Amino acid sequence: MNDLDALPTNFRWGAATSAYQIEGAVHEDGRAPSIWDTFSHTPGTVDNGDTGDTACDHYHRYPEDIRLIGRLGLDAYRFSIAWPRVVPQADGRVNPAGLAFYDRLVDALLAAGITPFPTLYHWDLPQAQQDRGGWPERATAERFAEYAAAVAERLGDRVTHWGTLNEPLCSSWIGHLEGKMAPGLTDLTAAVRTSYHLHLAHGLATQALRAAVPGARIGLTNNLSTIEPATGSAADLAAARRADGHINRWWLDPVHGRGYPQDMVELYGVELPVRDGDLELIGAPLDWLGLNYYFRQIVADDPSGPVPRFRQVPGPNPERTAMDWEVHAPGIEELLLRLTEEYGARELYVTENGAAYPDTVTADGRVEDLERAGYLEQHLAACARAVAKGAPLAGYFAWSLLDNFEWAYGYDKRFGLVHVDYATQRRTVKRSGHRYAEVIRAHRAR
Ligand code: IFM
Repeated sequence: MNDLDALPTNFRWGAATSAYQIEGAVHEDGRAPSIWDTFSHTPGTVDNGDTGDTACDHYHRYPEDIRLIGRLGLDAYRFSIAWPRVVPQADGRVNPAGLAFYDRLVDALLAAGITPFPTLYHWDLPQAQQDRGGWPERATAERFAEYAAAVAERLGDRVTHWGTLNEPLCSSWIGHLEGKMAPGLTDLTAAVRTSYHLHLAHGLATQALRAAVPGARIGLTNNLSTIEPATGSAADLAAARRADGHINRWWLDPVHGRGYPQDMVELYGVELPVRDGDLELIGAPLDWLGLNYYFRQIVADDPSGPVPRFRQVPGPNPERTAMDWEVHAPGIEELLLRLTEEYGARELYVTENGAAYPDTVTADGRVEDLERAGYLEQHLAACARAVAKGAPLAGYFAWSLLDNFEWAYGYDKRFGLVHVDYATQRRTVKRSGHRYAEVIRAHRAR
């Protein structure tokens, strides 16, 4: 049996991107700054002082990028909609010119036979909302639902698959606790309140989408890791339990109607601003659940470290990506099975999976990224093993379609199936992109 035979016949093959990482055109058609414009323009926050000002210029080059998606043979494209284009200011007014971009994008995708999978929030909170308190405030979740309703009203006649949030863990823990992403805070209370209001935003937006789009398929995407204790000591086992709470359970339990894990509520010691009915809204049934998988985490107790008092130790596999992330494909299988067995997922997507490597273009214009091609194959084979064991995996989106702005790492870290020369905006399909296309063709031809 071929490695991928277990994947269903109607499996969706896709690639993913996000608005701030590829669009550029930050001042065009009424877009206002997001927290990422502010953060990236703050000296010392992003490697090389890079910003998303131009990025891949996808805002202007989207027809070419859709042709690339077609060349790769993909039938689905996951992208994000920029809230600061659609409702740029705090006054709540919808900006028709910003919305029109996504209208054109969706039409062009559909004309090419590619199913759009938009995500409503991939970290680019309008700065105007941040100035009013941002995610630690409940009002931001309410504004998000209004923005979601405006998008749904405009695109809902053509878009069926909707994602509310991408990786709320990063917005909360990395943006508000570790300070390494926008808005750059290091405040546990703000971080916990952010996580709660992001979940509430998901619940309210889901309600708005269901009202506006009959038949909508709505889900959200979490970045999860398998967790292993560094040793069998009681202290490391307890650290692994805390790490699982911080990285996995905090993000999964509430959206499955289980509320917040009590051990973590106690550990954080921050009162959750719950109001009547919130937890039901947050836990309303999902149509699909997205998994972003990059690495496992092996953790040790760190009694003197900040809450949640664990530290990551390096994994044993010498294969590492340019992010210094250990390559560990069995993790994706394990997580897909956990979501199936422990959380009862009915439809799963791998909404991101991929690797950065220091790619170069050869003199005759090729990018021989054999490591990324191998990474992709290993992880797809692990997905197929999960399906063979019962995971309802309906599709896979490689991260990323294009090399792009990798947040605090700037443009040095390249994740694309397609290489971008930022000086000329020339796109070159990498060996991994060609390999992915072959895998897809072979799967369809079975
Ligand atoms: O680039 C990011 C993406 O925005 C969210 N998931 C992880 C990717 C790689 O770090």
